[in-house]
Parts: sequence; C-alpha cells; structure tokens
Amino acid sequence: MLYPQPARWCKALLACAMLLSSYAGAAEKLAHVTILATGGTIAGSGATSTTTVGYTAATVGVNQLIAAVPELAKVADVKGEQVFQIASENMSNEHWLKLAQRVNTLLAQPDVDGIVITHGTDTLEETAYFLDLTVKSRKPVVLVGAMRPGTALSADGPINLYNAVLLAASQEAVGKGVLVAMNDQIHAARDVTKTNTSTPDSFKTPELGMLGYIQGNKPYFYHVPARKHTADTEFDVSKLSALPQVDIVYGYANVGPVALNALVAAGAKGIVHAGVGDGSLATPVKAALVAARKQGVLIVRSSRVGQGIVARNGEANDDELDFVASDTLNPQKARILLMLALTKTTDSKQIQRMFATY
Ligand code: SIN
Repeated sequence: MLYPQPARWCKALLACAMLLSSYAGAAEKLAHVTILATGGTIAGSGATSTTTVGYTAATVGVNQLIAAVPELAKVADVKGEQVFQIASENMSNEHWLKLAQRVNTLLAQPDVDGIVITHGTDTLEETAYFLDLTVKSRKPVVLVGAMRPGTALSADGPINLYNAVLLAASQEAVGKGVLVAMNDQIHAARDVTKTNTSTPDSFKTPELGMLGYIQGNKPYFYHVPARKHTADTEFDVSKLSALPQVDIVYGYANVGPVALNALVAAGAKGIVHAGVGDGSLATPVKAALVAARKQGVLIVRSSRVGQGIVARNGEANDDELDFVASDTLNPQKARILLMLALTKTTDSKQIQRMFATY
C-alpha cells in the first residue's frame, strides 16, 4: 500500500513533536546567575537627581537592584544575595575571605552558572584581583559597580548591571578569570584600575588593554588574560579566617622612614613600597627597608607611576637586598599577591616566582 498505516503516522508525528519541543526548551534555557551584592555607589542614593557627589553609598538592597532592571530576566535566571552592605573603602581582608568562600561554594553547585558581584568602585579592582587569585572555578565571575548613584540623571548602574549579568551568563566568559564589566567594556581583574574620581569611563586598562566590549546584548572578546588565574593558582583560602598583615609605604620627595618603621613595629609581615619611577628607594627609606628585611619582613618594590614594569635588579639590587620586584602590579594589587604568597611561604625567591606568574 502507498500510504503509511495510521499507527505509524502517529508515531512519526509524536517523534517530530518531541524533537521540536526539545529544541525549543534548549533555546529557552537561561543560565543561572547569582548576584552577590556588597554595597557601593551602584546601591547608592542621593538627595536629588543631579547629586553625583556627596550621595550615600550602599543604601539599596539587592532585590531592589534586580527589580530596577527587569531586562535581566531575558538574559539569565537571576537570584540575589546581600553579602555585605558597605562603601568599598571599608572592604577588609575578612570581607574578601568571606566573599571568596561564598563564591567558591556557589560555583561548586551545578545550578549556578556564573556570579555577578556588585561593588563600590573605590576598591573594586582589589576585590576583583583577590578573587582572580582565589576562586577555584572556570565559571564566569564578573564584578560591576557604578560611578553614579541610582537616583542620578543618567545613572550608569542599571546598564552596567545588565551587561555584567549578560557577561556572567555567557559561554564566552568561561575560563577568562575574574572580569570587570563597566561602561560597556570588559576588563581583566589583574590589570584594570580606576583612573578617574568621578566620570563613568573611570575603569581602564591603560597600555595592557581591555579584553573586549559588551554591545547589542553580546560580549565581544579580543584578548585573553596571559597570567595564571582562578582554577590555575596555588592559593586556597577555603579554611582561612585572616591574612598576614601587609601594608603599603608611599614614596615621595623628602620622604623619611617614620611611616615604614611604624608599620613594621605594628607587626607588618610584608611591606609594598610604592616607589617613585621604577620603584626607586630614597636613601633613608632603603636603610629602613633593609633593617625590616633583616627582621624577616618581606619587601616588594612597586611603583606609584601606574604603568610599566618594576624590573628586578633595576633601580635596586634585589638579589643583594633580598627584595621582590612587583612586575606590572600596582601597589594595591601587589599587596594582595604578597598577602596570599605569605600564606604559602616566606621564601623571597618563591614569592618572586609568584609575581612573575600571576
Ligand atoms: C564605594 O567605593 O563604595 C563608593 C564609590 C563608588 O562606588 O563609586
């Protein structure tokens, strides 16, 4: 007979329907993104719509942040969690340890595909680098903030949050380390820095370059981070409740050793020297650093300049002084790497290797 029997027709139709519905299901399946809110200007409010300075950071909770951007529901299945509610100048080592532990717990869950952390912009680059060294997952982790409070004309928080969630939900962000999404741009945690006190384009990666853009509901990557990060680092903070004390000493004309000596007397286990130029050391400070090193304090030579390499044995004989050179890490990021390094070793050669690796 020329035509299939009715039973065979039914079976074929059923199979087609099942195939079509599984395609539709796959297309609709949204990534699960958890937003961890920590405060900052993105959660801030001002007295008027033109108040862009002198507002109060960290006043709005995570549910309100999410509710203000209903478009999030189109790009991810979003959950919110308020981990802290602070202005980021109050971010501490203890906050970082709690945050890293929470991020690692969440990312170990099969029902979490990515994390967004809303954060004040003042220390956002530091938290991003701390997590870049301590998150043990290839799943996306994206930090985001805002330069203007949500009450301001042209507030940048909602679009930044939307872009951050889009990025955290994307396959393109997998395995790229901790990312920063600000002003339609994607930056690597290690290299990004805040460059302006108040404008929305403050976050930049000068010279080394940002990783890409977010435009038209899509991330575009043009570079990948060259240094080791996240799952490939040797640092494990899962059981830590404190980090070794490391402080920064600033270099300037006429500087003396008073601040440095006070920090060493207060128990610093490491000092990052934010030197002038290529990490140069003024004579009285150099003498105090040498004395501190003899007492076992680890010394890292960094630079206040903001760009370029602080070369080993360049402006100081690091081999002879037993100091470490910071490579391209700015002082605030060198402090983070030195703290984590000191959780593993006090051997300056090992620590120098870490500064060449991360
Ligand atoms: C902060 O860092 O918490 C305040 C400033 C900002 O978020 O832009």
